[in-house]
Amino acid sequence: MRPDPGGCFCCRRPVRAKSCVANGEVRNGYVRSSAAAAAAAAGQIHHVTQNGGLYKRPFNEGFEETPMLVAVLTYVGYGVLTLFGYLRDFLRHWRIEKCHHATEREEQKDFVSLYQDFENFYTRNLYMRIRDNWNRPICSVPGARVDIMERQSHDYNWSFKYTGNVIKDVINMGSYNYLGFARNTGPCQEAAAKVLEEYGVGVCSTRQEIGNLDKHEGLEKLVASFLGVEAAMAYGMGFATNSMNIPALVSKGCLILSDELNHASLVLGARLSGATIRVFKHNNMQSLEKLLKDAIVYGQPRTRRPWKKILILVEGIYSMEGSIVRLPEVIALKKKYKAYLYLDEAHSIGALGPTGRGVVDYFGLDPEDVDIMMGTFTKSFGASGGYIGGKKVLIDYLRTHSHSAVYATSLSPPVVEQIVTSMKCIMGQDGTTLGKECIQQLAENVRYFRRRLKSMGFIIYGNEDSPVVPLMLYMPAKIGAFGREMLKRNIGVVVVGFPATPIIESRARFCLSAAHTREMLDTALKEIDEVGDLLHLKYSRHRSVPLLDRPFDETTYEETED
Ligand SMILES: Cc1ncc(COP(=O)(O)O)c(C=O)c1O
Repeated sequence: MRPDPGGCFCCRRPVRAKSCVANGEVRNGYVRSSAAAAAAAAGQIHHVTQNGGLYKRPFNEGFEETPMLVAVLTYVGYGVLTLFGYLRDFLRHWRIEKCHHATEREEQKDFVSLYQDFENFYTRNLYMRIRDNWNRPICSVPGARVDIMERQSHDYNWSFKYTGNVIKDVINMGSYNYLGFARNTGPCQEAAAKVLEEYGVGVCSTRQEIGNLDKHEGLEKLVASFLGVEAAMAYGMGFATNSMNIPALVSKGCLILSDELNHASLVLGARLSGATIRVFKHNNMQSLEKLLKDAIVYGQPRTRRPWKKILILVEGIYSMEGSIVRLPEVIALKKKYKAYLYLDEAHSIGALGPTGRGVVDYFGLDPEDVDIMMGTFTKSFGASGGYIGGKKVLIDYLRTHSHSAVYATSLSPPVVEQIVTSMKCIMGQDGTTLGKECIQQLAENVRYFRRRLKSMGFIIYGNEDSPVVPLMLYMPAKIGAFGREMLKRNIGVVVVGFPATPIIESRARFCLSAAHTREMLDTALKEIDEVGDLLHLKYSRHRSVPLLDRPFDETTYEETED
């Protein structure tokens, strides 16, 4: 049974924040339903067992709403920054304040400006204030600890100078090194070094020409058997795997149904394909089903012809939210409406499931039910590149039709070896139990870290099994302050704000690794606790709301591009 979507007292319809704020909590313009609020207040834990028990395991995923006061203060913070931004732009215009940013050349001064948009204003006046938190150069392997080159800015972050010092042994809470294979010692490094001596680094050709090595063929067989599919193809870049393969699969006259929080590579691929794109609310099956129903009932706009193909695009773990796709429900819907499913496992492959085979393994599903299994080697395998797995006919088709297969140089052999060695380790084909232990260690670290952060009073997003752990900061001033304070304490963290998140939902995003020891996690937690008190970040009222309990307004989620 689905939870009651709830709504306004007076009309029992889903409501938006503007029209009803009785419950007092807002997230992305929505207020919580009274039913959800009551359930949360009663401290209920929601397990998703609806849809005829599609889930074989408890699915604990909750998102605590942004407290009203925090939301208001965050908007006020952005308002003040914007006002100061306009004031400083005015001063720059009259050359009272030194102007560091690029300006149009004199001979082009009458042209329509190339870069005048809000994001440019934001970059100049807001991002510049905290720019030191990004692009920090590291000078070691991105393992559980990392060395960071110290920088200083003497012009308010417009430029940086290296001091020559290295900040040593920073606890790395930001790299996607989920299983700890990003290492410069051990079996992967040794195997890759051996292949480097034999094959060199570059391939200098595409797969179709003279760049098809025995190593590539071996890798693809291994990936197919790891995923439990008929065939697989490997690509030199994860981003291009999405952006170049989606256009090979769908085109004009086809319909893409895309989760609103899909990665930029999926969005770009969808746009390049020329298909019509409709966006459903994040991980919201009611929203997806509504779009599927409409697609079947109404067909294409104007002509009303049936869509040539319907392709659903989802991710395994969403890298900004830490949520896990409701795959059993998505599969049920795709079967019901005869749509195809494209699953991006960039963050979930290796990191989820009892045998590390991703979200399909996590839910105990059949890989055959996913039409296109996409993933990357950049995270759990500590390498680079991407793959697509599926039926042999699909892979044969992509070999000749995908731009990244036909026109891009193939993977570097030492990189291939790193992937092969780490994958074999996960599969236990190296004769050890190391891979299994890493998977278990990661799962343990995830639960421990999430539990401790929640008990400290932070608002933490996502699924309790997700190694991506967003800690909500909200206010713009706290983005920079959190990153800097943590680095002072020798903890490297990633902070994220607009445009990567909605404007008021800035956050720190931790990525856990099997390489983190309990001692490292405890050190990081102690420092996070301290910084949380210092910056007043403990916003939680311990009222987490499962996604399905959120009311959704049918008129606000759909976005169509014809
Ligand atoms: C969901 C998703 N897909 C694709 C990519 C692109 O992969 P890569 O960084 O390996 O190019 C990323 C990168 O983080 C991602 O998060």
